[in-house]
Amino acid sequence: MDTDLFPEEELPRPADDSRRSFMKQAGGLLGLAFTPASPEQTGRLAPAGKTVSGATSMTLRVNGKPHTVQAEPRVTLLDALRERMDLTGTKKGCDHGQCGACTVLVDGRRVNSCLTLAIMTQGKAITTIEGLAKEDRLHPMQEAFIKHDGFQCGYCTPGQIMSGVACVQEGHAKTDDQCREWMSGNLCRCGAYVNILAAVREVAQQA
Ligand code: FES
Ligand code: FES
Repeated sequence: MDTDLFPEEELPRPADDSRRSFMKQAGGLLGLAFTPASPEQTGRLAPAGKTVSGATSMTLRVNGKPHTVQAEPRVTLLDALRERMDLTGTKKGCDHGQCGACTVLVDGRRVNSCLTLAIMTQGKAITTIEGLAKEDRLHPMQEAFIKHDGFQCGYCTPGQIMSGVACVQEGHAKTDDQCREWMSGNLCRCGAYVNILAAVREVAQQA
């Protein structure tokens, strides 16, 4: 290119250059926009109460036994069970409350343990799949799943069984349709639903 035709200051600037300076300016503006105002600036007081951070000691009663673990308050019940107590029967599927693989019972009610903070379950009775069998005797729901072949890969099975136990206890397994509805939070990617339904209904009829 003949630069005499384009004096230095009039030469087109490389695209990168202008992009870089734009980003710098935008970054500065964003920084201003998102800098939180201090309590002095807003005139408001900081929230009352102590902010808990870092690991803290908590005792959870799981399957009738107390477990004292060190965990941050943000740790979910699912992670506390699997990673702090080695109770890996409860499965992590979606980790977003959508599949039911992590279902456990807290004070007899089913919860998605991936959406439950461990620290909030202190003082409550937590039951996991490991707590259903009594010595060498399987729970009737476990027996029924085996009898009706209620699983294929087995990954959703602990959650299905825990949900099935609660569903029967709640009186929500009186008909096939009712059972389907109240078990609908537990997904099985293999599609073993027909056999799962047969297992839960059988236990419901014995109850
Ligand atoms: S892992 Fe909790 S609902 Fe899927
Ligand atoms: S048995 Fe495989 S996901 Fe349910």
